[in-house]
Amino acid sequence: MKIALGNDHAAPELKNIIKQHLIDRGIEVIDFGVQVGEKADYPVQGEKVARAVVSGEADLGIAMCGTGIGISISCNKVKGIRAAVCSDPYSARLCKQHNNANVLCFGARVVGDELAKMIVDEWLDAEFEGGRHQRRIDLMMDIENH
Ligand code: RB5
Repeated sequence: MKIALGNDHAAPELKNIIKQHLIDRGIEVIDFGVQVGEKADYPVQGEKVARAVVSGEADLGIAMCGTGIGISISCNKVKGIRAAVCSDPYSARLCKQHNNANVLCFGARVVGDELAKMIVDEWLDAEFEGGRHQRRIDLMMDIENH
């Protein structure tokens, strides 16, 4: 399992905490984000994470900004991406089980470090349920072709 990480200047500290958490779980990380003191525009960081996922360089992506909103919208501009902003573990679990989200986003100014780790764990440990949800995902992804 390889996860692409991205963040703007609002989230380097949280990114580093999540990065270590993933490494502790035995997950390989590709870090496209910036470090403390560096400025970055979230669309640039979001696109890097999204392209790594659609190209197969990474299996999944986690992207962080101040709210998680700007970077998630940016990720979702890339064809094939289903990025979900989650501020709670329930949404994190369901966005995998029902929506098969391939990028998880959250805001460093919204969630605390421990909550962010729980959100990540719920998402990683959940499995896509398929069935009726696959039909809806097919409909959703077909919007990209219209
Ligand atoms: C940067 O200040 C902030 O706008 C950004 O991190 C994010 O919250 C945007 O959605």
